Amino acid sequence: MPRYDQAQQVTLGRDFARALDPVLLARDCGLDPDPVQAGLLTTTSRKVLVNCCRQWGKSTTTGLIALHECLYVAPAMIVLVSPSQPQSTELFKKIHGFWERLPGAPEAHQESLTRMELANGSRIVSLPGSEKTTRGYSGATLVIMDEAARVPDELLAAVRPMLATTSGRFFALTTPAGKRGWFYEAWSRGEAWERVTVKGGECPRISSAFLEEERSALGPLRFSQEYECEFIDAETSVFATELIEQAMTDDFEPFIARAA
Ligand SMILES: Nc1ncnc2c1ncn2[C@@H]1O[C@H](COP(=O)(O)OP(=O)(O)OP(=O)(O)O)[C@@H](O)[C@H]1O
Ligand SMILES: [Mg+2]
Repeated sequence: MPRYDQAQQVTLGRDFARALDPVLLARDCGLDPDPVQAGLLTTTSRKVLVNCCRQWGKSTTTGLIALHECLYVAPAMIVLVSPSQPQSTELFKKIHGFWERLPGAPEAHQESLTRMELANGSRIVSLPGSEKTTRGYSGATLVIMDEAARVPDELLAAVRPMLATTSGRFFALTTPAGKRGWFYEAWSRGEAWERVTVKGGECPRISSAFLEEERSALGPLRFSQEYECEFIDAETSVFATELIEQAMTDDFEPFIARAA
């Protein structure tokens, strides 16, 4: 039997407690989860839909779930997927940041901007939103899909088989993007999903003054989508959902009026 000094016993004790309770892991990473976040961190559901307002903490909370899996369900295979590589990479960066902050976390064997492998054999990969790349991965113990309402049905079809042989868990996080697509269907009619939803007014970190500013800046329709978790009906809306989505991206040349 190895003998441990008092400091080692405290470290081991904390590690054991964190293994049993992901909320403690979150606190050790510098974040105190609110009650709904604590519920999500500790859920035992295999399929979870998270339809929460902007900035509630969707990426943060599921990033902590991923780190917990990496440390205590090793060797874990965690896949982060979203409509684009930059969005998946953002989630990966959050997890990487928590891992760096956690005292006593296992070393990384391999690390890059999009993936890492820990000494305990757990792996995290962040993928671009391409069906072809996604098909190359299998045996995931946890899949986290960010901006899930903007993920095309074909990409979901490529992701699902990754969980076939592992009974792995699947978390889909998003704000709504119209009454269409797989997430909307699953949210409104799907069976066997746990559903988590938090509106802006219910988030303890978002002030009512900020929400009022956002309401006047975004207009009522867009505000209800971003902060009230509402799926806007594409048929009654003046503009199609795709058009509204495109209008919110900034990857085009700014329009500058020419002098006459
Ligand atoms: N319990 C908490 N305590 C303190 N800060 C928190 C907590 N939860 C989340 N945050 C902070 O809130 C901010 C938003 O978190 P996060 O990016 O995870 O939200 P999100 O729901 O994914 O947002 P978006 O819809 O913009 O993608 C981050 O700065 C995060 O650190
Ligand atoms: Mg996010």
